[in-house]
Amino acid sequence: MNLLIISGSPFPGSSTAFLAEEIKAQIEQPENHVEIIDLCQWDIPLLGQPETEELEEFKRVATKADAIIIGTPNFHTSFSGILKNALDHLSFDQFEGKPVALYCTSGGMRNTDPLAQLRIVMRGLHALAIPTHLCASSSDYKKDENGKYGSLSNEMKKRIGKMVDSLIALAGMTKSKHHI
Ligand SMILES: Cc1cc2nc3c(=O)[nH]c(=O)nc-3n(C[C@H](O)[C@H](O)[C@H](O)COP(=O)(O)O)c2cc1C
Repeated sequence: MNLLIISGSPFPGSSTAFLAEEIKAQIEQPENHVEIIDLCQWDIPLLGQPETEELEEFKRVATKADAIIIGTPNFHTSFSGILKNALDHLSFDQFEGKPVALYCTSGGMRNTDPLAQLRIVMRGLHALAIPTHLCASSSDYKKDENGKYGSLSNEMKKRIGKMVDSLIALAGMTKSKHHI
């Protein structure tokens, strides 16, 4: 199975990208290929500006994925602008009938509001957003002495497992449709 994780923070070394790696670690099995697209490392132009090679690659990888996981930081109780711009480049071609899982990271309290808004976008793209999502906050992980994120709480690890299991189960049911 091909899985794509889109990490929607505009900052390198973000907590959203850290969680993407943790999610990838739990999905990685010989039968699964997992790719992370950390949007802040990709040359994805503002919608309406000239297209780039990396945008084409982004669309190609998203089209090929059997399921997509989308992560965002909580910015003013919503999802990030860089993520919205990236999603605006995509369409039914990438999302119609495709299983999607959502997660977010907040600086304060864990918050579902950014994901509630992302769910509306997923509905607009005809994606199948699974009910189990992941809402983390800065108290769920710590930075190490080098300033890098590490040591995710066991509660979050378990939650990732639950989310990933649901996503893969649904992707197993829908996969054949995407390869017709
Ligand atoms: C523009 C902006 C708005 C933010 N708004 C909120 C907010 O409304 N609630 C909150 O809990 N944290 C807020 N934060 C904090 C981020 O959600 C938090 O630092 C998050 O973990 C950053 O994720 P990242 O490391 O993946 O970029 C905001 C941060 C920024 C830069």
